[in-house]
Amino acid sequence: MFFEPSKGHGLPRNPFKAIVAPRPIGWISTRAGDGTPNLAPYSFFNAVCDTPPIVMFSSSGRKDSVSIIEETGEFVCNFVGEKQFKAMSQTSFAYERGISEFAEAGLAEAECRLVKAPRVAGAPAALECAVTEISRLKDRNGDVTGNWAVFGEVIGVHIDDSMLTDGFFDLAKAKPVTRLGYLDYGMAPEIVTLPRPTTG
Ligand SMILES: Cc1cc2nc3c(=O)[nH]c(=O)nc-3n(C[C@H](O)[C@H](O)[C@H](O)COP(=O)(O)O)c2cc1C
Repeated sequence: MFFEPSKGHGLPRNPFKAIVAPRPIGWISTRAGDGTPNLAPYSFFNAVCDTPPIVMFSSSGRKDSVSIIEETGEFVCNFVGEKQFKAMSQTSFAYERGISEFAEAGLAEAECRLVKAPRVAGAPAALECAVTEISRLKDRNGDVTGNWAVFGEVIGVHIDDSMLTDGFFDLAKAKPVTRLGYLDYGMAPEIVTLPRPTTG
């Protein structure tokens, strides 16, 4: 089949996010000016370059994470392992700004070193980020959409030491949860190793 998204798909559910899958989940924590922490998962998320390391997430609508980041200029990107799966989902509930998703989901906060935002205690890894740009996304006609992209430079990296094997971040131990389409998630990935080609 073929469809043009602007004209509809004719399927029971839009397959776009199932096609662009699996996606890593950036579990974004922030701290508002009044001290309240905020935490929410974003799967329109990825690392976009590594020198310097920059991550990006996008918000469908100007959600609390975006407005707090606009105010504070910083955020933390926590990663979701099997142990955090259900709690991560709970933090996607549309709690009012000012309600701590850490408390609502029974998660402990851990302090960061370089930013005021807390991180999720026990998460396999967390990236402390300083905002580099916030853009309202445009469509192909140059018209603004209701989506905001937030970019941040990674200025600090936390790794749960138990996730390291011989100095390598061990995904077999971290068991990252990824977002698929519909209501589906991917659990621990099957890992295969393939060296880069040495000839053309
Ligand atoms: C796994 C998962 C991934 C999500 N990814 C996104 C996303 O990429 N963009 C978005 O706007 N909302 C996403 N959501 C929904 C937000 O987490 C939800 O709207 C949340 O309440 C936003 O919280 P905030 O207003 O505190 O930022 C996702 C939800 C789940 C469960």
